[in-house]
Amino acid sequence: MIPLQPPRRLIDVEIDGEAVRVPEGATLLDACATAGKDIPTLCHGDTLTPKNACRVCVVEVEGARTLAPACSRKAEAGMKVATGTERARHSRKVVLELLASSTDLSTTPRAKEWMAEYGADPARFGEDAATVEQPPKVDNDLYVRDYGKCILCYKCVDACGEQWQNSFAISVAGRGFDATISTEWDAALTDSACVYCGNCVEVCPTGALSFKTEFDMRAEGTWDEDRQSETTTICSYCGVGCNLTLHVQDNKIVKVTSPHDNPVTHGNLCVKGRFGYGYV
Ligand code: SF4
Ligand code: SF4
Ligand code: FES
Repeated sequence: MIPLQPPRRLIDVEIDGEAVRVPEGATLLDACATAGKDIPTLCHGDTLTPKNACRVCVVEVEGARTLAPACSRKAEAGMKVATGTERARHSRKVVLELLASSTDLSTTPRAKEWMAEYGADPARFGEDAATVEQPPKVDNDLYVRDYGKCILCYKCVDACGEQWQNSFAISVAGRGFDATISTEWDAALTDSACVYCGNCVEVCPTGALSFKTEFDMRAEGTWDEDRQSETTTICSYCGVGCNLTLHVQDNKIVKVTSPHDNPVTHGNLCVKGRFGYGYV
């Protein structure tokens, strides 16, 4: 085994009274995971630099004035962290309420579970609460952009931009409730700089970006993850040899993802590996 990076010094922190040891540079989220704590996250991406956009992951650090976003705050030796204090739980609850009252979280994995766990009640903002509701953008055969489900986490922008793809096809346009992820001049995807790598779809935490196959199957009521199997294989198109995870329902490939822990590709693919499965 050739180590991919030099060994890191280990530091000791305390999570809910339990001593844990993590490598230097680890985040509080890593330390919480080591202690077996399940902290909700939305804008955090395991292959992206944290953006601190959603704040659903906050924890309380002893001696700190404000709550800390666990996904980006680095663990420091001797830190004492509490994950389930009333203050942290209340903050997560309000974040979930604000998001759920303004966006459609119906395809956000675990959103329902977290709402129940934190007692979030988005309805308390009233029927007239402003939302970002808008019709889905279906302008190509590969993937759909349904920005009524977008929480503006920036993950797609970062995946498309300098963190991975360097295509810079999308960015944030507008302000407040009019803020939306947009192509340049709000052009159709087919007229934009998009190269259809689908790396934005890979990281979107809410289903705002989804394969056209998934979008169509959800619309006709046939999308059923309980009936899907996942097989990781190797892309047959070129010599890079990216890993593909084929999601198969009723013996048909319905979408393609890629393992995030691959040290070469980190979950990223090109258009052929991501969408070129029709020949199968
Ligand atoms: S489209 Fe998805 S990844 Fe992009 S900002 Fe919205 S929720 Fe985040
Ligand atoms: S996904 Fe693209 S880069 Fe990766 S092996 Fe397939 S064709 Fe090559
Ligand atoms: S998951 Fe930590 S700020 Fe969004």
